[in-house]
Amino acid sequence: NWTTGNILEEQVARIREQIGDARVICGLSGGVDSAVAAALVQRAVGDQLTCVFVDHGLLREGEAEQVERDFVAATGVKLYVANEQERFLSALAGVSDPETKRKIIGREFIRAFEEAELAIIAEAAAHGEKIKFLVQGTLYPDVVESGGGEGAANIKSHHNVGGLPEDLQFELVEPLRALFKDEVRAVGAQLGLPQEIVGRQPFPGPGLGIRIVGDVTKERLDLLRKADAIARAELTAAGLDNEVWQMPVVLLADVRSVGVMGDGRTYGHPIVLRPVSSEDAMTADWSRLPYDLLARISNRITNEVDGVNRVVLDVTSKPPGTIEWE
Ligand code: XMP
Repeated sequence: NWTTGNILEEQVARIREQIGDARVICGLSGGVDSAVAAALVQRAVGDQLTCVFVDHGLLREGEAEQVERDFVAATGVKLYVANEQERFLSALAGVSDPETKRKIIGREFIRAFEEAELAIIAEAAAHGEKIKFLVQGTLYPDVVESGGGEGAANIKSHHNVGGLPEDLQFELVEPLRALFKDEVRAVGAQLGLPQEIVGRQPFPGPGLGIRIVGDVTKERLDLLRKADAIARAELTAAGLDNEVWQMPVVLLADVRSVGVMGDGRTYGHPIVLRPVSSEDAMTADWSRLPYDLLARISNRITNEVDGVNRVVLDVTSKPPGTIEWE
């Protein structure tokens, strides 16, 4: 009979035993799993841990700050931030095919993470130390299916197939291996992590890069971030976060339609709302959100986000639709 308290104590003791006095590194994606895994390891071995956050510029509004400011404040973790927004924008320039975007984002992520690792390895070496371990937020369902996961998935395959030179390979620390998602959230709350991180809905590793139908530019990302923040804030204000599994907000950047504003006509882009209910993301149904909530989201987005003159609701189940548009 596990309680959150003894899961935490038991994991902390195990991590200490595994790591000893060695140094350890952990990638943060902004998601729940990597945050809780890192916080557990920090609780166990303190400053022997260095976290790495690759900011690819494809996160939603406020999420980079949640990692860089709130997570650090809650845990005291030592954080290395790689500001790579420009790198991802130039690698994605002119690319609109979804799978090509995924490949590019995955590849650049691995490279950026590896560069950060090398910098940390060099810093440790200057103190006569070596990085011996890599933390991963693998959950029990990942172990069983060896399936998806959050943004950390690409770090995973990278290190497991041995992308790094032989002498730079790490032993894995996987403190969440026996846990389900709800247990991970409970442990995170117990560790004092902010609710915005612990309660976060699933979010794809390639981030907003696959929520812009069309090619990815800085302007389009900024526009989508605004629309997404409005939709999320209104969903939360309506108290419906727990009714909805996920609510992708998608920018149809290649589509324009005519609208009217004041005395003039506009020619702007549609925003798609894709709220779904689901158990495991394998199948999903569209969420029957209240009309007045939808109306508020629509009014606010069309009034507050320049370049958007229409909000549409996706009423497709999965299958045949997927949850994401790309
Ligand atoms: P689909 O769109 O296939 O999504 O119905 C199912 C779930 O997976 C997430 N998703 C991804 N997660 N990298 C990820 O880490 C990806 O490339 C990716 N594509 C989709 C999606 O948000 C949903 O939760």
